[in-house]
Amino acid sequence: MRYITIALAKGRLAELSVEILERAGVDCSELKNSSRKLILTDEKNKIRFFLAKPSDVPVYVEYGAADIGIVGKDTLLEEGRDLYEVLNLGFAKCKMCVAGPKELEGRMDSITITRVATKYPEVARMYFRHKRKESVEIIKLSGSVELAPLVGLSDVIVDLVETGRTLKENGLVILDTIADISARMVVNRVSMKIENERITGLIEAIRKNL
Ligand code: PRP
Repeated sequence: MRYITIALAKGRLAELSVEILERAGVDCSELKNSSRKLILTDEKNKIRFFLAKPSDVPVYVEYGAADIGIVGKDTLLEEGRDLYEVLNLGFAKCKMCVAGPKELEGRMDSITITRVATKYPEVARMYFRHKRKESVEIIKLSGSVELAPLVGLSDVIVDLVETGRTLKENGLVILDTIADISARMVVNRVSMKIENERITGLIEAIRKNL
């Protein structure tokens, strides 16, 4: 029997991803004993795992180097890969939002936005092109995006909002919501056909234990 390979997103999703796999009967003991080994296995179920940078997870899955991936919807929207999104895992919930200074609240339709700072340039581009039919300059940042409108780098930002605390403490407000975000399970299109029974079995086991 061949191994089913699962790519997990490193970072804040990792711990909960392991938890939902364990609850579905997957043996993650090797994965939890942190070592420098990159690929870890559950020999009994013939499953192997690896942790990758979140934005790389959809890449491994699209190319079939991993059959399954667990990753945030934010990364899936940004990467735009051709995958089956089979399950909303329901954790790591937040919202992808347009946010900006309080003065812009309720004025989104009457003002012209010139520059948008974000860690999600594709999501921002699609939103401004299709929803607002505006051509804006997208400035890609790597973190602490809320800084941009405070120091005059951009008019607004596109970013994740979880508790809303970062916005509030910096005098920023949500101007529009683009999408609801949470962790998702994705499957390679070919794997879904050739390993249908094992993969749907695993999806069902996870779904039942969510
Ligand atoms: C994320 C996100 C917001 C913040 C939202 O940033 O980009 O900045 O969390 O959370 P809140 O609504 O609960 O305040 P992260 O912590 O990943 O750091 P980063 O800004 O450096 O990417």
